[in-house]
Amino acid sequence: MDWDGAYKNRQTPWDKGAPSPGLVDLLEASPMRGRVFVPGCGLGHDVRAIARQPRVEVVGVDISPTALARARRFKRRGRETFLNGDIFNLPREFRGAFDWVWEHTCFCAIPVQRRKEYVAAVRSVLKRGGEIAAIFFLDPGLADPDAGPPFGVTKRQLNSLFLKSGAFEIVHEWDPERAYPGREGRELMRVMRAV
Ligand SMILES: C[S@@+](CC[C@H](N)C(=O)[O-])C[C@H]1O[C@@H](n2cnc3c(N)ncnc32)[C@H](O)[C@@H]1O
Repeated sequence: MDWDGAYKNRQTPWDKGAPSPGLVDLLEASPMRGRVFVPGCGLGHDVRAIARQPRVEVVGVDISPTALARARRFKRRGRETFLNGDIFNLPREFRGAFDWVWEHTCFCAIPVQRRKEYVAAVRSVLKRGGEIAAIFFLDPGLADPDAGPPFGVTKRQLNSLFLKSGAFEIVHEWDPERAYPGREGRELMRVMRAV
């Protein structure tokens, strides 16, 4: 997938111009504190929503320089920064440097065969006891599920990747009350702790 080309051509149907409703609700219920890593942040709507909270520093990473050039044009909301990079090749100084990961539509965007690498990448940036909060796209509603991205995932696959691997333990899981129009009932939210 040519992500930068998609941003250049403005073919970005995933970008809703606003943070994920599930994230907004989560932050209201339990704010994030410390350092937060956001993989595949795109234009950074979620990054800025997190950065509005007190005592938080957020780093959004995306492989598309065009997306990040646009992300940086938005008004700053707090201590947010953006880094152009590949989540499968993160800087050394990211290791164990974050209290939280916020996952939203990066996991479903990467090739299915790289999911174990994804889990290793997000585990590597977290401190022990740090947490990943995520919205997983269970059912993107494609007629051919292999025609993604987005690639859907089952709870069973998530358990195998994140829990049975021993990388994480589950803290909480729920169906989000709100979603972007068209995604209702298709998402799962989970908080998992790095062990
Ligand atoms: C479906 S988009 C979602 C963007 C954003 N989370 C949103 O909801 O608007 C997936 C994003 O992941 C980025 N991406 C894909 N592979 C990546 C990788 N290996 N490293 C970093 N970013 C990646 C793409 O450039 C794109 O911005």
